[in-house]
Amino acid sequence: METVNHQLNIQKTEHSRLPSEPLHHIPFGRIFSDHIFVATYDNGTWEDLKIMPYSNLTMTPAMAVLHYGQAVFEGMKAYKSATGETLIFRPDANFRRINKSAHRLCMPPIPEEIFMEGLKELIRLDSAWIPESEGSLYIRPLYFATDEFIGLKPSTHYTLIIMSCPVGAYYSEPVKLIVTDKYIRACEGGTGSAKCAGNYAASLLADKEAKALGYDNVIWLDGIHKKYVEECGTMNLAFVIDNVVVTPQLTGTILEGITRDSVLTLFRDQGVKVEERLISIQEVAEAYDKGILQEAFGMGTAATIAHVSKIGYQGRDLILPPISERKYGQSILEQLEAIKTGKVPDRYGWVWKI
Ligand SMILES: Cc1ncc(COP(=O)(O)O)c(C=O)c1O
Repeated sequence: METVNHQLNIQKTEHSRLPSEPLHHIPFGRIFSDHIFVATYDNGTWEDLKIMPYSNLTMTPAMAVLHYGQAVFEGMKAYKSATGETLIFRPDANFRRINKSAHRLCMPPIPEEIFMEGLKELIRLDSAWIPESEGSLYIRPLYFATDEFIGLKPSTHYTLIIMSCPVGAYYSEPVKLIVTDKYIRACEGGTGSAKCAGNYAASLLADKEAKALGYDNVIWLDGIHKKYVEECGTMNLAFVIDNVVVTPQLTGTILEGITRDSVLTLFRDQGVKVEERLISIQEVAEAYDKGILQEAFGMGTAATIAHVSKIGYQGRDLILPPISERKYGQSILEQLEAIKTGKVPDRYGWVWKI
């Protein structure tokens, strides 16, 4: 039986670190806003809900997450509308996904009222940290195991933290990707569709090797045939082939991206042909050789829409057209930004005013 001791205690900072000048050209993920939300789970009881000044945590060296990796997280964004309202994009989808990820890692579900109330109160309190233009407030919920115990079992204690940081562009330029068949990201039955910390740790070596070759990130292939495109390190992928937007189907091995879902919904509503299916890297290369690979782009909260300028595959580079020639990715990027910032009406119930 799960219980929730629902009192939210708010302790405001006495020394705001908010810079006096407007937040512009902010590096991604390095500056953190004044407060964090924290809730703890102790053997079936959610308790000690609080908002407190951003500060270090204390931990025991035996903390379960450090040893066995029970940690899941999320990423979403808040924006300021032209009239100064605070808007969060699809937090309900992030809430559902963190609990899906938690389930896969044998962690108890987070009650919706805790997540949503903590999120809203935190972002209201730190709303001055949302950049007015050219940026957003990236919100990072993080949920991890805290048992003081060495031995493999699901933890009985957990901490949920929500923190945020003002951010500018994740990629300042179109991205260069390289296909890897040396490493795999996920296999059926694994944790590929969970947003768990271990997936990212396991991707770092491939990422490092890609960077050493002058690329920004890797394109993962399926773990069995090493043939079908899966996704990129932090984004889902789409290709425009002969005016059809093709994206890998959700097989359980890729993250079910919220940006991906938003993009596909918008395209379909505008009559653009969209296909969610298996797409082999060979098909992408053949489309390139035939001159019908018009675009490739990544889709993700941090990167929004990231145009792909180059795909390294089997020792050669597929060079994609300049942004000025891209009808699909650029238009969807602009449409999404307009919805997220309240510049155009939201027909989908995606934007939460708080
Ligand atoms: C591995 C991976 N794929 C895809 C995505 C895109 O998901 P979303 O659009 O929900 O941010 C992300 C980012 O969260 C990611 O880390």
